[in-house]
Amino acid sequence: MSATMRSIHVLGSAVFLGWALSSCGEELFPELKQVPGNVNAVGEAEQEPRSGAEVFAVTCALCHGETGDGQGIVVLDRPARSFQEGAFSFGNTPEALFRTISAGIGGTPMPGFGATLPEVERRRVADFVISLGPEQVPAAGAASILHVQERPLFVRGQFRAPVPGAAEVPRGLMVGTLDGLSWQYRADDVRLLAVRQGGFVDRSDWGGRGGSPLKLLGKPVHFLDGGTPGPAFATDGGAPLVARLRSTLVEGDQAWLRYRLLEESVGAFPGLAGPSAGYQPGVAMVHESCSAASLPSAAGYRRSLRLEPDGDPRSSSGDGGSAAAGAARPALLLHLASTGYSEMVNGPGNTTWLRLDDADPPVVMGLQLYLVAFEGGVGQPLAAVIRGLDGATALSLPASDAPLQVEWTTLLPSTLNDATWATMVEEIQQ
Ligand code: HEC
Repeated sequence: MSATMRSIHVLGSAVFLGWALSSCGEELFPELKQVPGNVNAVGEAEQEPRSGAEVFAVTCALCHGETGDGQGIVVLDRPARSFQEGAFSFGNTPEALFRTISAGIGGTPMPGFGATLPEVERRRVADFVISLGPEQVPAAGAASILHVQERPLFVRGQFRAPVPGAAEVPRGLMVGTLDGLSWQYRADDVRLLAVRQGGFVDRSDWGGRGGSPLKLLGKPVHFLDGGTPGPAFATDGGAPLVARLRSTLVEGDQAWLRYRLLEESVGAFPGLAGPSAGYQPGVAMVHESCSAASLPSAAGYRRSLRLEPDGDPRSSSGDGGSAAAGAARPALLLHLASTGYSEMVNGPGNTTWLRLDDADPPVVMGLQLYLVAFEGGVGQPLAAVIRGLDGATALSLPASDAPLQVEWTTLLPSTLNDATWATMVEEIQQ
């Protein structure tokens, strides 16, 4: 079996559990490590890592050309990059190239090799790619540019309109993760607006006494619902819920947002509609963390959402505010896309995959649900129930006392047609 075949096989068997596990924050959710059927450890024969040049010739030259000139033998709907000029749009340091090679570039033919090449080979081929270009002049270090290096970073500030015609975002939150992706949130109501890749943030607003917007250095790879997404969660009856950010937290490699979901009526007094508006018992508490994800044929990202009943931390000291204590979390809906889906298939481990041709850009989504037992128990997989809702697509989240973990993957193939869908389904089901 060739190295590529072997690694695709390894990816296939571990595909979703691997994602679920790696995205769960080692300390936060140790119980998920014991999910039955975790086949992450599929025996991979010990093999001498290959040189960067060898990996390049076998795996990359097809698209990038043997000399890295971008003239490979595969005809792509957009040209692969020439490495000879050394002008990389997603960063030109060994670390940045390593991240691009690991995660791929969503929406382009550039796949992620995080699961199919060992780390040492990815690092070697990154060095090799740099060696193809001209000698590098070290960039003049602008002090205001923030890089994500050893830990995920959070930066708050103002954003320009994410897409033309959209409103400015006065309170934004950028999260930079170690996979080279960054996550552009509206902080007020915790809406993920866009996923970006490459550089992180230029804090040029520091020069302007906080009045000027942050400069986002990453290139957008996905605008969710066109950059103007609505509320992500709704009651089972379809009434939208308001999200309110409680805290941000770094755990190992993972960046977590913690927010509560409230009934819309909190916003009834526009002047007060803010995190300090009158307290209401929350419907649920959500922990969210994002990371890169890919199949051999397409790159994308994954959101891990963990929902718990919301006990108000202030209710113990207050009077009569403990309505939520001990209550189960009610059934909810998670908005997936504002278009319908055309096909649905199941993968191993109770995963459900949707083909969304009408989304802009077309995407493939994977969903996996677990009930997480409290005391050292294992995650109990649940079948995903998908609902159509006014032409949109939503996921049903059943009521529970136990935390519910949702792994929501969005893959951005460069084109989505019957042939690319068939390839993805094959990779999903392996
Ligand atoms: C299926 C075709 C394909 C294969 C195989 C492929 N690439 Fe790419 N790669 C592309 C395309 C297309 C782009 C340009 C994407 C875009 O439009 O930004 C790209 C972009 C890149 C970039 C980003 C350059 C930048 O501007 O920052 C790097 C780095 C890269 N590829 C490295 C590799 C390496 C290393 C391999 C082998 C391990 C590889 N690629 C295999 C198609 C491919």
